[in-house]
Amino acid sequence: MNADGRPRTPLDLAGMKATGRKIVMLTCYDATFARLIGAEVDVLLVGDSVNQVVAGRETTLGATVEQLVYHARAVRRGAPDALLLVDLPFLSYQVSVEDAIRNAGHVLMETGAQGVKLEGGRPMVPTVRALVERGIPVMAHLGLTPQSVHALGGYRVQGRDAAAAERMVDDARSLADAGAFGLVLELTPAKLAARITQTLAIPTVGIGAGPECDGQVLVLHDMLGLNETFSPKFLKRFAQLAGEVRAAARAYAEDVRRGRYPGAEHSFE
Ligand code: KIV
Repeated sequence: MNADGRPRTPLDLAGMKATGRKIVMLTCYDATFARLIGAEVDVLLVGDSVNQVVAGRETTLGATVEQLVYHARAVRRGAPDALLLVDLPFLSYQVSVEDAIRNAGHVLMETGAQGVKLEGGRPMVPTVRALVERGIPVMAHLGLTPQSVHALGGYRVQGRDAAAAERMVDDARSLADAGAFGLVLELTPAKLAARITQTLAIPTVGIGAGPECDGQVLVLHDMLGLNETFSPKFLKRFAQLAGEVRAAARAYAEDVRRGRYPGAEHSFE
């Protein structure tokens, strides 16, 4: 919600950049978590990371439009007033601009999301422009773009050398000129992310991109400490829920096995 009680829209993020108010974004994949976190953050993102976090796959490749739609609908039910963005999955927007319009429009129509996010630099500029011209708000995504993990040789920091850094600045400018309302910068050196943030009128949202972006995003399960095997330098865990979940399951199992649960107080006459 905005301060005046109006539900937030993609356009409000530019105002947040202008006033220096940090944009807080988290991924979300279901109604229960949406209910819990929807009012605490500025943006909920149904990321294609759902394919890893929820579906247990190695990469985001293989996520489908219908998978994203299913999860986004659930998130919308849990957080009816949230600013909700949905990732366009691999191959749903790269083959043709027509595909991109159809898939992005489908996502908005079916989920109640207010915008989509897609990955890539200059080659995506005509697609971003076409979506924006048709009334579909687009958040762009540069730096480490997980849908290109194989081409990038793994989950590595991008833009480390001068040529790559210049390319990223140029890509960022082009995407902003094409009408993107925001830009995720993933695994990007802090100085480069700061430079892009200062260069653009649209807000940047960082993940592993240092403190100078206009906002931050994390994968919900990572920041809750539910994923113990993922410990990149940029991640701060704000809770340690994996241990609590395991302990609760153990306590429940013990109570059932020892006949302590259910008791009379949990039983019906
Ligand atoms: O899919 C995702 O969760 C994302 C965020 C990490 C930005 O793209």
